[in-house]
Amino acid sequence: MPNLYTPALQPGALADLPQPVLSHDGLLLRPWQERDVAAVVAGYADPAIQRWHCRSMDEAEAREWIARWPGRWNAETGAGWAVTADGSVAGQISLRRIDLEEGLAEVSYWVLPSARGRRIAPRALAALAEWSFGTLKLYRLELSHSMLNTASCRVAEVAGFPAEGTQRGAARHADGWHDMHGHARLATD
Ligand SMILES: CC(C)(COP(=O)(O)OP(=O)(O)OC[C@H]1O[C@@H](n2cnc3c(N)ncnc32)[C@H](O)[C@@H]1OP(=O)(O)O)[C@@H](O)C(=O)NCCC(=O)NCCS
Repeated sequence: MPNLYTPALQPGALADLPQPVLSHDGLLLRPWQERDVAAVVAGYADPAIQRWHCRSMDEAEAREWIARWPGRWNAETGAGWAVTADGSVAGQISLRRIDLEEGLAEVSYWVLPSARGRRIAPRALAALAEWSFGTLKLYRLELSHSMLNTASCRVAEVAGFPAEGTQRGAARHADGWHDMHGHARLATD
């Protein structure tokens, strides 16, 4: 049965590109490197990151997490960047649930506690959106956060991802299901 619409992007649209280094508004987003293990371990040891990302990570797991990104890029299932400021890792940002046929992806981010409050997450989100729409040619980037995570809601608003609505009980956390607040930005925004 033929589809009656043209896929937004063909397989290979991501994998055929080299993973870029994105420079934006004082930040450098670059592929993860083996030497970033300590920063990843520190991130997933933070109670807020554990709370909202629902995972912890020891050193071996952090090594594996870093090592998996190139394979995820090649399989077009994920794309992760270390967000660096002044040469140090300040956080992470990634595309996940990439659907090339629909031209959309979901964004995930966190910032290390010592780097918070400097608009690093909204600047990283703006950088990733610029590349995702301008180079990769996605049509829609979405993100969602627990209704209790007001800091993440601010990040989305500041980066030009307006709120679209609430999904009740849409994500399991350590303390149970949370209502999730969805935001998105379109290539045409
Ligand atoms: C949410 C998060 C990514 C924000 O990153 P950031 O680079 O600090 O973003 P901003 O500087 O724009 O601050 C966003 C909001 O965080 C809050 N904030 C500011 N300084 C803060 C600090 N030092 N510590 C904690 N929160 C702070 C404020 O509410 C701020 O909004 P406002 O400036 O309009 O008041 C970061 O707090 C984080 O990693 N939290 C834990 C993981 C997480 O929530 N990930 C997102 C899951 S959806």
